Amino acid sequence: MDKILVTGGLGFIGSHTVVELQNEGYEVVIIDDLSNSSITVLDGITAITGKKPLFEKIDLKEKVDVEHFFQRHNDIKGVIHFAASKAVGESVVKPLLYYENNIGTLVYLLKELKKLPTASFIFSSSCTVYGQADELPITENAPVKQAESPYGNTKQIGEEIIRDTCKVVPNLKAIALRYFNPVGAHASGKIGELPIGVPQNLVPFITQTAIGLREELSVFGDDYPTPDGTCIRDYIHVVDLAKAHVVALKRLLNNKNKENYETFNLGTGKGSSVLEVVEAFERVSGKKLNYKIVGRREGDIISAYADTKKANDELGWKTKLTLDDAILSAWKWEQKIRG
Ligand SMILES: NC(=O)c1ccc[n+]([C@@H]2O[C@H](COP(=O)([O-])OP(=O)(O)OC[C@H]3O[C@@H](n4cnc5c(N)ncnc54)[C@H](O)[C@@H]3O)[C@@H](O)[C@H]2O)c1
Repeated sequence: MDKILVTGGLGFIGSHTVVELQNEGYEVVIIDDLSNSSITVLDGITAITGKKPLFEKIDLKEKVDVEHFFQRHNDIKGVIHFAASKAVGESVVKPLLYYENNIGTLVYLLKELKKLPTASFIFSSSCTVYGQADELPITENAPVKQAESPYGNTKQIGEEIIRDTCKVVPNLKAIALRYFNPVGAHASGKIGELPIGVPQNLVPFITQTAIGLREELSVFGDDYPTPDGTCIRDYIHVVDLAKAHVVALKRLLNNKNKENYETFNLGTGKGSSVLEVVEAFERVSGKKLNYKIVGRREGDIISAYADTKKANDELGWKTKLTLDDAILSAWKWEQKIRG
């Protein structure tokens, strides 16, 4: 079976994707520098699939190390590139760190892929490229809006770099996957999200509050023009998201792509408000959550959810798991890691 490089493969979405790739028989090599993950994730993956993926601790900012990696593994057929820094707030304070880690590493990888006879490349992009879209649900044709943060900008620039490269490198095929809001954990309870420090995202903040690690959840604003006044997002189960990567990769490996560079939204198509997520948590866990409504947070958009038609029709992929499934799995995971 083809050998696939997964960068950032010990991270949240990467680890779940490695499991799905191994389940489909691919030989997986992980590169991760452990800057936002733990080596124990490798054991979690191995416990689920029964097969330890190859792992190389490499910082992709080290160009020479990336070159040497591809000299050792010149039979790589595809790359799924998750490795990046992802904290929006931190990116505002440390823009150069974000441009170096998210753009520099991408360029080094593409330079190596250019040398291969053929290469398939999947890029982790984000719905942040749409900003507050003018129309909902958001299709792939919605205009890319001025980025709100250096992090968001790295995803926009990253997409442009890949598109421009695909135009002139015929042996390179690429797909940018624009994720909506990934949540949840593997049903086995062996891998999940491991936020370092205070979580930036709603679901880990909820589960950490429920387990007693945080005092209360702040709900930022209840005066938005939405049915209950809180912001709306499209929460997608990380296992559904991981499976979409395998489908997208196969599309490229089997030459089923229509263009050398394509983009797809990955979401459920359903928006849920912050209060609906809190309610879902209380329902599946049977626990009351301590939360309070506070003022709006700067930079938050009102509402974003995906039009999933292109991914459904062209990739033949659909989400199967519900918000309740995701929240229950995240809650089990939280109890396991703090237990
Ligand atoms: N989680 C989300 O909400 C979300 C939403 C949209 C897009 N994304 C994108 O998806 C990708 C994966 O996100 P995630 O939530 O799994 O993040 P994560 O932080 O859990 O995983 C990223 C992994 O990359 C590794 N890494 C970072 N810089 C590296 C470097 N220079 N060299 C080698 N390894 C490096 C980290 O150690 C980590 O294990 C990122 O590109 C992120 O921007 C995430």
